Amino acid sequence: MSFTVSDAVLARLEKLKDKLDKEGQNLELYLDHLYESDYVNYWDYINLDALLSLQHPRTKYPDEKTFIIYHQITELYFRLIRNCIELIADEKNLSAEFFIKQMKRVNNYFRHLTDSFSIMYEGMDREQFLAFRLALMPASGFQSAQYRMIEIYSTDIHQLVSDSKRNELKTETDIEKLYAHLYWKQGATELETGKKTLTLRQFEDKYDSGFLLSIDKWKSKNLFRKYESLSAEGLNNSELKNVLREYDQLANINWNLIHYRTAARYMERKPTDIAATGGTNWQKYLPPRFQRIIFFPQLWTDDEMKNWGSN
Ligand code: HEM
Repeated sequence: MSFTVSDAVLARLEKLKDKLDKEGQNLELYLDHLYESDYVNYWDYINLDALLSLQHPRTKYPDEKTFIIYHQITELYFRLIRNCIELIADEKNLSAEFFIKQMKRVNNYFRHLTDSFSIMYEGMDREQFLAFRLALMPASGFQSAQYRMIEIYSTDIHQLVSDSKRNELKTETDIEKLYAHLYWKQGATELETGKKTLTLRQFEDKYDSGFLLSIDKWKSKNLFRKYESLSAEGLNNSELKNVLREYDQLANINWNLIHYRTAARYMERKPTDIAATGGTNWQKYLPPRFQRIIFFPQLWTDDEMKNWGSN
């Protein structure tokens, strides 16, 4: 059998040979490899079998699978959010346009997370939830390292200090000192003893050193700093201000409110009736009006910050 190789195919072969020659590789062997290779298929490409084997309920209640899968979905969205912020942080000549494009994607992801929280709010039976959650203690979404990383990526570490200490520590530069007073460390204290919860202690053991390194690495390239580093034109770009404000609102009010309302739906009869899996005083910890976490204080008025999460 003979066939003619068109000029177009020849040109591609020459291009490929050029590339391989430069790297000391052999064209014939590469063509053999190509011949032996399988076509890509959907299930292998997205690792479907592995993905569907990652749910290991601890109880017999079917709704526990919904609970696990939705947490996994959220973590994947967190990964998408981190990807966009990493692109902004690593962009050498950051323009307002690029900043806006990536932040619109981030906001889209957070909107999806907020809207889809109904899967938690109405997608499980209360009785099943209250039964299977007992088998999960002291694990809590509180221990989501990606959630904390998104905060570290987004703002200056001073903005994550607990509200009661934020003013006092506003000129503190020692990262370890600031870290000890982050709002979530302060929030995770046992209702009765005031000691750190086991949930927090486990989380600290696993992630403290990594978080401290990340805080140092991100202190000059988080979104707050990246915005501040723009030219006057970028700083005054009203579309950019709006997407950053929207991000602050989605990440620090809207998601928190639907999450808090979901906790209340399952766990509130009388206050303190049902303790949180992580042991926090969750009614006083979760609502955004108590946490008052604000990534971009320079973009809000004093009044807006005072009433954060109240409307
Ligand atoms: C029925 C569903 C849920 C309930 C009842 C619930 C309840 C709670 C409670 C009570 C806390 C306070 C910490 C503690 O003591 O445990 C908390 C924290 C947290 N949960 Fe959930 N949660 C639910 C679903 C989720 C989901 C799907 C995620 C997604 C990853 C999540 C992520 C978080 C995070 C990140 C925190 C820490 C928030 C902060 O520090 O401000 N939760 N949750």
